Amino acid sequence: MPASRPKLLSYLLGVPGALTLWKWFSHSRARLNLADMRRDYGLAGLAEGDAPADDPWPLWERWIAEAVKSGIREPNALVVATADAAGQPSTRMVLLKGADRGGFVFYSNYESRKAGELAANPRAALLFPWHELERQVIVEGAVEKVSAQESTVYFHSRPLGSQVGAWASAQSTVLSGREELERRVAARMAEFQGRVVPLPPFWGGYRVVPTAIEFWQGRPSRLHDRLRYTRQPDGSWRRERLSP
Ligand SMILES: Cc1cc2nc3c(=O)[nH]c(=O)nc-3n(C[C@H](O)[C@H](O)[C@H](O)COP(=O)(O)O)c2cc1C
Repeated sequence: MPASRPKLLSYLLGVPGALTLWKWFSHSRARLNLADMRRDYGLAGLAEGDAPADDPWPLWERWIAEAVKSGIREPNALVVATADAAGQPSTRMVLLKGADRGGFVFYSNYESRKAGELAANPRAALLFPWHELERQVIVEGAVEKVSAQESTVYFHSRPLGSQVGAWASAQSTVLSGREELERRVAARMAEFQGRVVPLPPFWGGYRVVPTAIEFWQGRPSRLHDRLRYTRQPDGSWRRERLSP
């Protein structure tokens, strides 16, 4: 039988330091009560009539445009999931830099952890977490590198600091400290002073060619709308509604 609250309190009052501990414990529970954190979703719905049954693209274009227009922070930020040859998954955020019917493009270091995993297993899953719109879009697909020409064009559109940074950072490798990174940046800055910074051979884009795209819209009582398009062997798309 657990002690009643008043009994427990009078017991604690008799133990030196216990009350302080109890107060701290109750306070920290009140501050971070993850189990009680939830929102009900009701901003919008997603019906079959909102999009063609045989083509995910119009809905993607509408949702990305709405995400940008809504003013949410970094609407083109997405989570990329990859997996190594042993099946160990890993994730990280990147920025979407292009999207068309041919695929979703992001740029990165070709010697990073994600690059090693994509070399061993050229498949990825992407997730756009648009909390403010109570939406997520999930993409699965095969991954290929974009052409060096496409990477060069994008590389030169980046601010100079980011171009030099790409040369200086051996992404995903261990540094002795922040100073090492700053030394490497300074050395590259000096090297490229007054010159066009060339595209590093170890840097460029990845295109995720979609085989499935799911559109998720939050609804009240966790009865969300999920429409998933999957690519068929003949190249057409099939749409299905999934249970939430
Ligand atoms: C909002 C956001 C955007 C990012 N965009 C990129 C990006 O476009 N390309 C990239 O290589 N890393 C980007 N990063 C850093 C990655 O999340 C990650 O740290 C890096 O790519 C190394 O990942 P890896 O070690 O798993 O390969 C971004 C991080 C955040 C939080």
